[in-house]
Amino acid sequence: MFEISSLGTDLPKSELYRQLADQLEALLTGERDPIANMANMSALLFHGLPDLNWAGFYLMRDGELVLGPFQGRPACVRIAVGQGVCGTAVAEKRSIIVPDVHALPGHIACDSASRSELVVPLSRESYIIGVLDLDSPIRERFDHEDCHGCEKLARILLKASDAFLRAA
Ligand code: SME
Repeated sequence: MFEISSLGTDLPKSELYRQLADQLEALLTGERDPIANMANMSALLFHGLPDLNWAGFYLMRDGELVLGPFQGRPACVRIAVGQGVCGTAVAEKRSIIVPDVHALPGHIACDSASRSELVVPLSRESYIIGVLDLDSPIRERFDHEDCHGCEKLARILLKASDAFLRAA
């Protein structure tokens, strides 16, 4: 059985992300279905990273982002490219850290408990095929170590999974 609770969430971030990367590699080994892998990765992050209220994916479908596998409260289903944090990350092809979502007029509020957010694009070659989105009820929860750690985890997911999405 896969034991997520053995992760020490009081570890320094560098070590926590190293352990998460190892756990993600183990969790995805032998399975190339992208939906299954995104579902398990959402669960790993939701339970393995401290202070999250949402962890999951939006996937590019016919030119817009559509809700994918996630953990947390039900969320908005469709986000246009260029809208909200997720759509902006796609339009600008870069990860975005939002220290305080209340201070960002374009933020799309799916859960009123969210205070900060990290969005990491998933790219294959030069195409964005979706985003990984993490929300926290704590202001300034995410820093550059979280960003780099999640970018590395996203690369592990993409490498372990079959090409799954139509490009933007
Ligand atoms: N806040 C996001 C929308 C998705 S939810 O956070 C799950 C945004 O502004 O794009």
